[in-house]
Amino acid sequence: MKKDILTLWDLEPEEITQLIDRSIELKKGRNADTPYRPLPGRTLGIIFDKPSTRTRVSFETAMIQLGGGVIFMSSKDTQLIRDEPVGDTARVLSRYVDGIVIRTYSQELVEELASNSSIPVMNGLTDIYHPCQVLSDLQTITEKKGDPAGLKIVWVGDGNNVAHSWINAAAILGLHLVVSTPDGYRPNSDIYQKAIEHGRGNISLVGDPFEAVRDADVIYTDVWASMGQEEEQEIRKKIFRSYQINEKLVAAAKKDVAVMHCLPAHRGEEITGEVLEGRHSVVWDQAENKLHMHKAIIDRLMV
Ligand code: CP
Ligand code: NVA
Repeated sequence: MKKDILTLWDLEPEEITQLIDRSIELKKGRNADTPYRPLPGRTLGIIFDKPSTRTRVSFETAMIQLGGGVIFMSSKDTQLIRDEPVGDTARVLSRYVDGIVIRTYSQELVEELASNSSIPVMNGLTDIYHPCQVLSDLQTITEKKGDPAGLKIVWVGDGNNVAHSWINAAAILGLHLVVSTPDGYRPNSDIYQKAIEHGRGNISLVGDPFEAVRDADVIYTDVWASMGQEEEQEIRKKIFRSYQINEKLVAAAKKDVAVMHCLPAHRGEEITGEVLEGRHSVVWDQAENKLHMHKAIIDRLMV
């Protein structure tokens, strides 16, 4: 049966661990004399409704390196823009391509696409989730710090799509996650509640960022205004000011804390240039790992 990754709840804890191990293995083998190319003649369709640098290019490169081909579709260039039902689109694309990565606004649309597809569907970001991002972040944490289960991971900033996928990961894997946001910008309460009720993780909300990062092994942040929230950018800059990842906040965490950001970053807003370029930052390795993890995901779902 085909498998999708629409949210991290689609994966069992051991499947996440296997993906991390596989990604690390594929990364080690990237310059092998005999490249691993299991997908000749196969095609990955990529439908993006929002901009992307990392997710698009890393998925495309991953598929090409695995021996397959890609077709990129901006949804405005498909009949989706002229209201062809997403279910019809899914049924037709399933007869052409072998897997789909989609980035769009609505999680429901992704679910409808997947339920009408006979091929694997991978969520490349919606307004509420970014599961593949957090899979590669888990790899980065594993490489830099060891088993994520033994660490304190602190989210500082907006309770957004990436934060939601972190909450899911913490619940599924039993992680210690602290989420620090201004009032009114906390994560979605249903997503948070489901994670708490699952009972595995140690997940909490702490308003004060300095209190939140105490003893942190990892501090993670993201933009204050996500794609689709551009008109709130200026007001959010004021509301989130005390949630900036700067030298002072980093100094309140463990001495060897790793600072993560899924990128793109706004220097001087959610993170200072000093911290982004400083010794705690792992953001470039973090970005690279998207390539390796996307290969592991394609390998798991499409081979
Ligand atoms: N981190 C991430 O998803 O980046 P892009 O928006 O560039 O894909
Ligand atoms: N929260 C950000 C993530 C970008 C990768 C957004 O949705 O714009």
